[in-house]
This record gives sequence, structure tokens and C-alpha cells, in this order.
Amino acid sequence: MHPSSAVTEVIRRRRTIKPNMMDPVRGIPKELVEELLENANWAPSHGLTEPWRFIIFQGASRKSLANTLQGLYKEHTSPDDFRPGKVDQLGQRPMQAPMVIAIAMRRGDRPKIPEIEEIEAVACAVQNMHLSATSQGLGAFWSTPGVLETGGMLSFLGLRDIDRCLGLLYLGWPKVGTTWPQGKRKPVAQKVQWF
Ligand SMILES: Cc1cc2nc3c(=O)[nH]c(=O)nc-3n(C[C@H](O)[C@H](O)[C@H](O)COP(=O)(O)O)c2cc1C
Repeated sequence: MHPSSAVTEVIRRRRTIKPNMMDPVRGIPKELVEELLENANWAPSHGLTEPWRFIIFQGASRKSLANTLQGLYKEHTSPDDFRPGKVDQLGQRPMQAPMVIAIAMRRGDRPKIPEIEEIEAVACAVQNMHLSATSQGLGAFWSTPGVLETGGMLSFLGLRDIDRCLGLLYLGWPKVGTTWPQGKRKPVAQKVQWF
């Protein structure tokens, strides 16, 4: 295998680009969003359940997402854990990115397929999207604030109790002058055993 193959290059270049690094007004062409979604749809899934669902927020709808995240945080956070900075962050992030995609796992009607496998399939779909974004220079951030696990979030997204919201994928072009972040990983050899 040649290390400079196109897929290797994109995998290693993929980075988390947080919303405060994104240009909030530069839109993402619809065709590009459709390419990301189509590539997500090519993820593998046990039994071809295709459990990934995407709920897309752009323009004014980002404000209702922000308000919901803030409201749920206030409702579900104990006074000891409550951080005003977190409320601000939940309100600001959706407005800093031109698009936010809520990532959902819609549980199929095949109970023999373990829930974790449905979740794993959605994670594969998200990685496909993130890599596709990277290949176009588009930034992405997979965020998982605690409120995603609340019933209020499920109903906001039109999901059922047996479904899960697995994250928010923020998408946007890095602001002019942003340096693409450096990644770091411990050596893979520390995580592998060969027999
Ligand atoms: C399932 C999942 C959930 C994540 N949730 C968060 C999060 O809530 N907040 C955050 O700052 N980063 C989150 N991240 C992003 C990681 O912080 C990031 O991937 C890691 O720091 C490595 O950086 P890189 O993506 O640039 O390689 C999440 C990543 C994954 C895969």
C-alpha cells in the first residue's frame, strides 16, 4: 500500500474544526451537502437496517436549535453542575456554523440486531460525512452535549423513545486565515497485538 493514497491522505487530514473557527455567513452549496449525505448513506449496517437519520438546521432554524439546547440544559442540570458559560456556548455554537446536522439513530424493527450495532453503523456514516467534508476543505465538529440524551431533545427532533440522538455535526468553512489544526495520536503499535 502506498501511504499517499487519496483515502489515506484524507483520513489523516481530517480534523475537528470547532464552530468558532467557522465563517458563519459563508454558505455550503446544496450539492456539497447532498454529497456528504449520500456518502453517509453508503455506510455499512448489520442487516442493512440503515439506521442513520439526519435533521438539518440552517438559517433561522439554528436559533430554535440553540434555544432548545439552552432550555434543556437549564432544565436538566443540577445547581451544583450548572455553568453559565455552558449556556452561552450552547446558544452560540449553532449560530457560529452555517449548518448543524443532528445525528440520529432510528432503531429498526429487528430486535436481534443489538442497539450498539445500530449506533456503530451511524458512527460509520458520520465518519463518511466528516471525511467527505475534509476532502472539500469544509470543517466539521461532532459535538455531544449531555442534553442530547434527554426526552426533550428526542421530541424536538421528532424521534421516538427507542431512538437516540448521537450528536450534532457542525459544518462550515474555516474562517479566512485559520490554520488547519495539527492532529496527534499515540502510536498505533501501543494499541495492537500481533500473534
Ligand atoms: C462520538 C464523538 C463525540 C465527540 N464529542 C465531542 C464533544 O462533545 N466535544 C468536543 O469538544 N469534541 C467532541 N468530539 C471530537 C473529539 O474531541 C475529537 O475528535 C478529538 O479531539 C480528536 O481530534 P480530531 O477530530 O481533530 O482528530 C467527539 C468525537 C466523537 C467521535
